Amino acid sequence: MLYDNPALKFKDTNKDCLGEVVWQSPSNIALVKYWGKKGAQIPSNPSVSFSLSKSCTETKLSFREAKGKNFSVKFSLDGIQQPDFEKKIITYFKSLTKIFPFIEQLDFDIQSKNTFPHSAGIASSASGMSALALTLCDLERYCFNRLTSLEDFFKKASFVARLGSGSAARSTYGGWVAWGDIGGIEGTSDLFGVPINSYVHSDFLNYQDAILLVETGKKKVSSRVGHSLMNSNPFAQDRFVQANQNAKHLIEILKAGDIEAFIKLTESEALTLHAMMMTSQPSFILMKPQTINIIEKVRAYRSETRIPVSFTLDAGPNIHLLYPKSFKKQVTEFVENNLSSYLSENGFIDDEVGPGPKKLS
Ligand code: PMV
Repeated sequence: MLYDNPALKFKDTNKDCLGEVVWQSPSNIALVKYWGKKGAQIPSNPSVSFSLSKSCTETKLSFREAKGKNFSVKFSLDGIQQPDFEKKIITYFKSLTKIFPFIEQLDFDIQSKNTFPHSAGIASSASGMSALALTLCDLERYCFNRLTSLEDFFKKASFVARLGSGSAARSTYGGWVAWGDIGGIEGTSDLFGVPINSYVHSDFLNYQDAILLVETGKKKVSSRVGHSLMNSNPFAQDRFVQANQNAKHLIEILKAGDIEAFIKLTESEALTLHAMMMTSQPSFILMKPQTINIIEKVRAYRSETRIPVSFTLDAGPNIHLLYPKSFKKQVTEFVENNLSSYLSENGFIDDEVGPGPKKLS
């Protein structure tokens, strides 16, 4: 079976394979948002995203035979050891020992770095957990000669990444990805993401995303808490129904290359995500005054110029400014001339739909 491998123990196999694997994996931005989950990271509704090009995490996983009785983890980010993350990774690895029994026999040294500024306020959990899941699957492939089909490899990486952070399930692929069972779309699953690029019109395959960095501090409310507040949100059930419809509808829009419908649906999704936060008990607001100012400017600019630029939001105050590549020059000028006063000192990241993860060693 793909996800449960009681046979994978180093004891009877090749001890010489101890070594290191390095993967780079992108962050992604959801257009239909995942907000609310059940059980073991099962989403309450499907989501659709694209993977970014420049915003990535690079992770090197070095492993050797465990010195003690239990496995151990050393983790550093940008060269600095992170005891808090180490604890989280140990808990995550413990939860994976059925899938990867070899974990219990190893000591790990994990070194991660992000290709975007450390303090940029970009969620790195999707890229970080995806990169880590890819290194673990590669370890399985390398040491046990398994997961030799690329399809199985990435499917399992997505499955494992999901257990670390839901949105990470979508980062193990490039381009457009759906995660969560979407009725009528073959192969979609609550357990892993699936690439949907073959459905997508060419205008959306190189879509642009200028990530406008309004504020870059730590979020006041974590995604974990936000998801759990959906359990008591009075609008949750209607939201889940709507998100199911929107996921299906967005795929039709992507197929048709209908940018006007894309703008309507995705801006509504972004504001609905934040409406869910504002109607949770306790409620919380992650947008900032600059977020609202930018939204108003973007809408005014769009109606004045007819340039199809729109926004989406993640769980934070930063804006993802989305537009077709053919308008790059005009939109970049608009950002620099009209929006820069709302941005933090980090400015913006000029990103776009990206090719997905890659192995670096
Ligand atoms: O993967 P998590 O648990 O960090 O949740 C991500 C939730 C959103 O970013 C708000 C939406 C999404 O689908 O990525």
